[in-house]
Amino acid sequence: MASASRPRVLVTRRLPEEVERQLALRYDATLNHDDLALDADALSRALDTHDAVCPTVSDHLPAEVIGAGPRRARLLANFGVGFNHIDLAAAQAAGMAVSNTPGVLTDATADLAMTLLLMAARRAGEGERELRSGRWTGWRPTHLLGRELTGRTLGLVGFGRIAQAVATRAHHGFGMKIAYYGRRPADPAVAGPLGAQFVPDLRTLLAETDFVSLHVPGGTATRHLIDAAAIAVMRPHAVLVNTARGDVVDNDALARALAAGGIAAAGLDVYPDEPAVPAALLALENVVLLPHLGSATQETRVAMGLRMLANLDAFFAGAALPDRVA
Ligand code: DGY
Repeated sequence: MASASRPRVLVTRRLPEEVERQLALRYDATLNHDDLALDADALSRALDTHDAVCPTVSDHLPAEVIGAGPRRARLLANFGVGFNHIDLAAAQAAGMAVSNTPGVLTDATADLAMTLLLMAARRAGEGERELRSGRWTGWRPTHLLGRELTGRTLGLVGFGRIAQAVATRAHHGFGMKIAYYGRRPADPAVAGPLGAQFVPDLRTLLAETDFVSLHVPGGTATRHLIDAAAIAVMRPHAVLVNTARGDVVDNDALARALAAGGIAAAGLDVYPDEPAVPAALLALENVVLLPHLGSATQETRVAMGLRMLANLDAFFAGAALPDRVA
């Protein structure tokens, strides 16, 4: 097909080679070889010069950038499952559909939540920093003692696909008991084999579990869901893990609690204003800080790209979007 007759599609970041190859085969694709994030002006221009734009979590598409329309772009095919960086109402008002890439990053993200649980509980970050800086003086019985996961209770805030995958790993792999907070009890076919107990009140879940892992979407409804008052009810030996979105946690309150021994440790993969990481957290030993690696495996990033392509293909074929969120 001649390039002029193919839809113009812009991707905002570098994608795995296989995905970029497919994009270039099927579309008049604008790729981002430098992999530098687009600023608001560049994103806005892209909406006027392309039929579809494929943003991701590092792009901010509030109403001011999307504009009131009409724009040339009719689809925002997001690379990623979370879409709180896109103002869905503004997109709809401007005549743009929005899709995401659910399902394909469940296992990778659940693995990373377990990584953080284990690293925080076993003080792995502290140990590695000590060793690399030449401060390790050798084995001794009281060196860097952590806590075991086995037999402890894991509290999941939200019980969607990723939370369930974490529960499966924690229960069947580490012998943990599972409790979860959500809008409603899960299907017994899902909760039953995990022995997962529904806790209808968030504070109760936080107060009665040893490890807490967050699995709610970002956005205004969940901003600072875990605030100072919520952290205050957690157990002093508790570990908090966040692989969801940064602003779900009040990080100032978290840093204060970690410094004061209000909770034992935390493991974070996401931050409210990425790539900025709050200085108060960087100064602490008892928090593991990862650079938003939840879905960062070769297999998963390719699968996310192919899912994004499936949405583009459906859209330009006039079919229903497989993963429409607006
Ligand atoms: C997601 O898919 O939402 C991840 O946070 C990265 O994109």
